[in-house]
Amino acid sequence: MLHMKKISRIYRSDTIQTHALRDFSLEVNAGEFVAVTGPSGSGKSTFLNVAGLLDNFDQGSYELDGVNIQGLSDNELSRLRNEKIGFIFQNYNLIPDFSLFDNIDMPLRYRGFNAAERKRRIEQSLEQVGLASRANYLPSQLSGGQQQRVAIARALAGEPKILLADEPTGNLDSLMARQVMDLLHTLNQQGSTIVMVTHDPDQARAVGRNVQVIDGQITDHSIYAPTMDNAPIEVSA
Ligand SMILES: Nc1ncnc2c1ncn2[C@@H]1O[C@H](COP(=O)(O)OP(=O)(O)OP(=O)(O)O)[C@@H](O)[C@H]1O
Ligand SMILES: [Mg+2]
Repeated sequence: MLHMKKISRIYRSDTIQTHALRDFSLEVNAGEFVAVTGPSGSGKSTFLNVAGLLDNFDQGSYELDGVNIQGLSDNELSRLRNEKIGFIFQNYNLIPDFSLFDNIDMPLRYRGFNAAERKRRIEQSLEQVGLASRANYLPSQLSGGQQQRVAIARALAGEPKILLADEPTGNLDSLMARQVMDLLHTLNQQGSTIVMVTHDPDQARAVGRNVQVIDGQITDHSIYAPTMDNAPIEVSA
């Protein structure tokens, strides 16, 4: 599904160069739920932004759902991103003046779906996150956890190949974080492929596969058994 090989991303300013990703290689298969952890500044968001075609890279190769993204134009990248990627950000990124319905509708309009198809997708995705009755609410009328669930609905409505989440519970208290995590686990069980950056070791442990990023590189791969206590069955460097 996601196939990155020796990706390097360097941010340059007049005085400094930051090697945000170096020889970063990762493969994520369809149906996996991968947690990405690592210290602040290690390159986790850079990885996710490159994976989500929001940022480009300097070296290496990246294949997304069988498409080699090298050499694609900005238009082609936008189209691919809209079709294949569902993004979930820490701060929800909802438009405050738009109802939940219109927030979810926006990227669907951009893709040119007709009104009936958009309505179907919006209603179905709000149903999936348990907010079907609130379609006409504004984001400010919801709790943080509910707003994040709207952001998840917006991602799902695009019927993406992969969900990319950057600290999706970072702004939430533990109860709301739990609800959002439960939702992500349910979506994964229903077939969604998910890559999630998290600072929370418990959240990481509860997920099928853990990847650690340090200094722009993957340093650790731990595959956990999907058991109740999440005991590791296999750890390889
Ligand atoms: N747009 C940018 N311009 C310049 N440097 C950047 C830019 N984005 C990220 N960096 C640098 O790249 C490195 C990796 O940043 P990144 O945001 O990927 O870290 P992170 O692991 O997500 O950290 P955090 O856990 O704090 O969110 C950092 O040194 C950061 O300062
Ligand atoms: Mg980050």
